[in-house]
Amino acid sequence: MTTVRRASLIATLACSLLAMTASATQSAKFTVDKSDYSIKESLTDQAGDPVKGREVAIDRKKGNCLACHTLPIPEQPFHGRIAPPLMGVGARYSPAQLRLRVVNPKMLNPNTIMPSYYKSDGFHRTMKKFAGKSILSAQEVEDIIAYLSTLK
Ligand code: HEC
Repeated sequence: MTTVRRASLIATLACSLLAMTASATQSAKFTVDKSDYSIKESLTDQAGDPVKGREVAIDRKKGNCLACHTLPIPEQPFHGRIAPPLMGVGARYSPAQLRLRVVNPKMLNPNTIMPSYYKSDGFHRTMKKFAGKSILSAQEVEDIIAYLSTLK
């Protein structure tokens, strides 16, 4: 890829990611199982809702997954193509493995451009209104996991 193309790709991506805002206050604790890189315990007591998870995945101010990934969501016109398509992802990974991939994908690949959706510390120069907050709430993460698990 040429430098110019790469720069414009990064600029486009930055614009679409700016729409995302950290809004949920993190509270649930979780344990990463490094034997299969997963988080076994649900972050909440309430089962994830796949219908809500699909909405969170589309929402440009929440998941914004379509900025980078293609998903089987035909009513949305523009899908990203810089990340692996998520069709069939529920067959490739267990819900526990999907949970870690949404909570903090940097544990699998420190250089990934995918945001850590349920991480609220360790950032630099955070704006005050976002300090101590994660992009998604624990329940929104569980809803997304429930949705991704239907993609078989
Ligand atoms: C800024 C771009 C970006 C956004 C936004 C993004 N991802 Fe990703 N995602 C990636 C990339 C790139 C990878 C490939 C893995 C890597 O980089 O290590 C990936 C990998 C994944 C994987 C593993 C796929 C596989 O086949 O191994 C899952 C699951 C996933 N993303 C889910 C999501 C979900 C759900 C959302 C929205 C809540 C999301 N991603 C938002 C860039 C993104």
